[in-house]
Amino acid sequence: MTNDLTRRGFLGVAGAATAAGVVTGAATAAEEEASSQPGGIKILGICCSPRKGMSTAASLQVGLDAAKEVAPERIEVELVELAGMKINGDLAAGVPLEPGERDDFPSLVPKLSDPKVAGMIIGTPVYFSNMTSLCKAFLDRLVLCHS
Ligand SMILES: Cc1cc2nc3c(=O)[nH]c(=O)nc-3n(C[C@H](O)[C@H](O)[C@H](O)COP(=O)(O)O)c2cc1C
Repeated sequence: MTNDLTRRGFLGVAGAATAAGVVTGAATAAEEEASSQPGGIKILGICCSPRKGMSTAASLQVGLDAAKEVAPERIEVELVELAGMKINGDLAAGVPLEPGERDDFPSLVPKLSDPKVAGMIIGTPVYFSNMTSLCKAFLDRLVLCHS
């Protein structure tokens, strides 16, 4: 039996499968939500790569575009890139910032808490089989923001 599955080939197939999964999931959820909200809805794509405009951002944009296609006049989408932002996860546990330390999470709150936001697609690169530290810090802070 020959094994013609190269790493590059596998990554290509895996990437296509991931993109298809994102597109299908986003489109189905968007369709259901948009039909139950008379004023239309907004879906945010949160990109947790520290590198702006790279592969995670591109993948998210595919999902967002697919969601918008379901009902372009009623579904608004926005890609939010966390690249370049300082988000301190320790604040979620009540540990204060150091004097002079920057924290950009509050600047995201108006966007995150917009009542039109019916869904978020969170995208992260894999870093050592896990989400990026930026993604983890964002999620830690997001939970408190919505509690
Ligand atoms: C610190 C670090 C750790 C990584 N760990 C993994 C890993 O465990 N598995 C993997 O497949 N790729 C790993 N990668 C590769 C990234 O997941 C991959 O390059 C990703 O596409 C980067 O996304 P971006 O282009 O949106 O920044 C790692 C990259 C970095 C910088």
